[in-house]
Amino acid sequence: MNPSATKNRADRARSAGARSQKHPEIAVQAELRPGQSVELLKELHILTREGRLNQDSRRKLKQVEHLVQFIEKLLNELQPQGAELTLADHGAGKSYLGFILYDLWFKSHGSGSIYGIETRAELVERSRVLAQRLGFERMRFLNIAAADAASEAALPERFDVVTALHACDTATDDAIAFGLAKQAQAMVLVPCCQAELAACLRHNKAFALSRTPLAELWRHPLHTRELGSQLTNVLRCLYLESQGYSVTVTELVGWEHSLKNELIIARHTGHKKRNAAERLHALLAQFGLQELAATRYARAALPAEA
Ligand SMILES: C[S@@+](CC[C@H](N)C(=O)[O-])C[C@H]1O[C@@H](n2cnc3c(N)ncnc32)[C@H](O)[C@@H]1O
Repeated sequence: MNPSATKNRADRARSAGARSQKHPEIAVQAELRPGQSVELLKELHILTREGRLNQDSRRKLKQVEHLVQFIEKLLNELQPQGAELTLADHGAGKSYLGFILYDLWFKSHGSGSIYGIETRAELVERSRVLAQRLGFERMRFLNIAAADAASEAALPERFDVVTALHACDTATDDAIAFGLAKQAQAMVLVPCCQAELAACLRHNKAFALSRTPLAELWRHPLHTRELGSQLTNVLRCLYLESQGYSVTVTELVGWEHSLKNELIIARHTGHKKRNAAERLHALLAQFGLQELAATRYARAALPAEA
């Protein structure tokens, strides 16, 4: 390599670094989308009051914006089932996802509503106040559990898109159940930690070890947790396929940004795969998890069991 070219590049990088230290907004602008509201990002504490981005908030912003790109693509393709496109975000937390999505897509489209579902009352109240301050009129926030959302009278009969970004434990399963009940056209899920299935594996471990060498996969507690998470997501995908969705599973962002990084995108096709339901039940039996069939995967009951 030409040593003077290398030196020039190093000089340029040094001076850009020095410039962005002097003017942090230069560095921040490079991370933002054209027209993206700096005021919103400050309100969400992603940017500091001075408009700076720290390492943690850069990671969060990257993650959310990446997810937003997938969701925008879906929104652009979908026809609303009702009067407007509706999106429900489960385990919304501070609603980073909902607010950024509204700012980047819903605001300029002039129609469509986002409903945030969150169990922590203070986060719901905070989001309501912020949406009002920003004039984000088509955002609503409900202080309810994901499991109760499908029967909540204040919500529309149908939803076009269901999202759940790191919704804790079984809240992702509840979001899926909600999406099925509301005939969602698409679901975008980034699961969080999972405890329910691991607890079943743990509970039945001694019997499983006497029955099959496969139980070695979850003999150690750390493996019980890890396998529990992976198996949960595998079962979620089969469940969605059995209910008429095509499913893709990818990484959301590089592993350096988040450990909970699996992105499941389900699109409704109407083609219910019987084979997926059969495999789901075969896996439940293989891992001694039949007790979950009636609670988590009720819609995938096979005819003989129905
Ligand atoms: C890890 S945070 C993620 C928040 C947000 N989606 C994000 O990525 O920034 C999970 C949120 O889900 C909420 N949550 C947990 N279980 C829930 C449930 N069953 N129904 C609704 N919200 C739930 C928690 O209160 C918390 O705010």
